[in-house]
Amino acid sequence: MGNTIVVIGAQWGDEGKGKIVDLLAEQVQAVVRFQGGHNAGHTLVIDGEETILHLVPSGILHKGVRCFIGNGVVLSPRALLDEINMLERKGIPAQDKLHVSEGCVLLLPHHILLDHAREQARGAAAIGTTGRGIGPAYEDKVARRALRLCDLADRDAFADKLKETLDLHNFMLKNYYRSDTADYAQTLDEILGLAEQISPMAADVTGMLYEIRQSGGNILFEGAQGTLLDVDHGTYPFVTSSNTTTGSAATGSGVAPGNFDYVLGITKAYTTRVGSGPFPTELTGTDGALLREKGQEFGATTGRPRRCGWFDAVASKRSVQLNGLSGICITKLDVLDGLDRVKICSGYRVNGKTRTVPVAGEMEHCEPVYEEMPGWQDVTRGMTDFSALPANARAYLKRIEDLCEAPIAMVSTGPDRSETIMMENPLVQSITN
Ligand code: IMP
Repeated sequence: MGNTIVVIGAQWGDEGKGKIVDLLAEQVQAVVRFQGGHNAGHTLVIDGEETILHLVPSGILHKGVRCFIGNGVVLSPRALLDEINMLERKGIPAQDKLHVSEGCVLLLPHHILLDHAREQARGAAAIGTTGRGIGPAYEDKVARRALRLCDLADRDAFADKLKETLDLHNFMLKNYYRSDTADYAQTLDEILGLAEQISPMAADVTGMLYEIRQSGGNILFEGAQGTLLDVDHGTYPFVTSSNTTTGSAATGSGVAPGNFDYVLGITKAYTTRVGSGPFPTELTGTDGALLREKGQEFGATTGRPRRCGWFDAVASKRSVQLNGLSGICITKLDVLDGLDRVKICSGYRVNGKTRTVPVAGEMEHCEPVYEEMPGWQDVTRGMTDFSALPANARAYLKRIEDLCEAPIAMVSTGPDRSETIMMENPLVQSITN
């Protein structure tokens, strides 16, 4: 029986999951996306060459790895084909290696129009979405009116269903939001045109993953966004519209929950967030600007500057609990090099009381309680040996481990595959667990 590992963002996304998935993909036969859509932006740097992926799993650059998009993903046919073309121009045979669940909800042009119209209508209370149509696509799914990949097999039935759903959404767009509508004939033409390239990738992902695991193949499940953006457990309503936590790897791929061997949570050595919503440890002054510059904290999907702040051990501990993290991977440690002091938030002060767990609705009012530690002046960039790290950096990591109550399995010290400290190999570890 093969081993399975789930890689989850433990913060508000952008933790550097793409690099870690790509690195671990050397040891697996399959990489699976199971939620979200092309709102994700996973950056891979190999031998100095950058590749940004939005929908295609981050294992695509490895020769022997098959990539899967599970039923939990909302799939924009246009975004998928653009990405495949980008990869094929680089000489990567993406189309041949990619299998897409027939159950994937199609993300269509009207979802993008609705996303923009809703954000505009919200005004100052806007969520700060990526504008990719993610929320409206998931709404159609739970309202049981979505068009799915399998619907493309019957073109006439697809045309009828599209008419029905566009009539509804265009009515809202025109009469409620007073915004542009989606043209039926144009949408139908476009999607049926793209179907010729997409449909050959349609597959029984659940069955294929079952076979791979049964025959001894290792599988990696690649989360998108992060735990604090989970629609149930995140900073609602400033969240994405999917479950971003471990349970979603099961429902979004059709692999049974008991079949996961190891869950790796990825977290930066500090914290970032894009879009609106509470962020207790946010630094709005020069310290925040310094982290943004040093960490190049600009969105991979939208280019927006990310909000930056100190490491939040309260939120991260909840992430350990919610995801059942077996281990943590700390990324971008090198960004903290050269600071005189570093801070970790170990409590939230709300109404005179200090809490060590986040409580729904309180994050926006709380005052972070910090533990301050001495920084380190040596350069950690590119280091591959934990014991060679500056003593203060090791102490900082140890404190994070203690506060979060999970072991640190890996530390990333730069964007390249090689710039990594592996203290525990999650795939070897999962065999002995
Ligand atoms: P949506 O997923 O586009 O609906 O956006 C909802 C919230 O999730 C916004 O705050 C976005 O900035 C955030 N978000 C969505 N995808 C990502 C991501 O891949 N990284 C970080 N934040 C994201």
